[in-house]
Amino acid sequence: MKTIIVKNYDEMSKVGADIFAQIILDKPNGVIGLATGSTPIGLYKKLIEKCTNGEISFKGIHTVNLDEYMGLPSSHEQSYAFFMRDNLFNHIDIDINNTNIENGVAPDAQAECERYNKVLDELRPDIQLLGIGSNGHIAFNEPGTPFDSVTHVVELTESTIKDNSRLFDSIDEVPTHAFTMGIKNIMNAKKILILASGANKAKAVYRLLKEKITEDLPASILNTHADCTLICDEAAASLINNI
Ligand code: PGA
Repeated sequence: MKTIIVKNYDEMSKVGADIFAQIILDKPNGVIGLATGSTPIGLYKKLIEKCTNGEISFKGIHTVNLDEYMGLPSSHEQSYAFFMRDNLFNHIDIDINNTNIENGVAPDAQAECERYNKVLDELRPDIQLLGIGSNGHIAFNEPGTPFDSVTHVVELTESTIKDNSRLFDSIDEVPTHAFTMGIKNIMNAKKILILASGANKAKAVYRLLKEKITEDLPASILNTHADCTLICDEAAASLINNI
């Protein structure tokens, strides 16, 4: 894994956006894998700027997203579909029909997982963006998820529900289940970019770089990917030395 340590969140977002922009320039009809959460918002702002300036265009780009809460329709403000429109898609020249995410209110969850796996087979990302959970999860693949998992429904752990509750009016409103790409789907991306910012990610970053590869730390599998870059700011890198 290539590790880039930058000063702060803004630097992380800038360096990450430059990597994405280059891929979009190299392959204007490519596939980009996107993520939700607090971490990528700055990167998305920089991509919006680049698109507004005419530096890049998303006209031919397809997107796939990692995960979606079960039970929230795409119109719900806390759904990840809403997040993506609000933080990126509504501000760039992408064709919304070329954006893909699990349907949180699909009537048949198993059929929805199968549908999404087919989408992912057809649209292999040229780059997949990831955050990392404080417990080392990637997407909603919590500790213990098999490395060969594909899209599935998960029951969220207490730690993830707590992490995400800041975005809801109360912790009781946080959905308890979600659809998520599996780890095998994520590893299928040609390139992976992980972002980590802030002291609350320092332990996860330390474990990612220093601990053995184990399903107890889902992100650890990324160490075996042929083209994976971690960008973390100084606060997130604070527990690692000599890297
Ligand atoms: P965050 O979430 O960007 O909101 O910290 C990252 C994750 O849980 O994957």
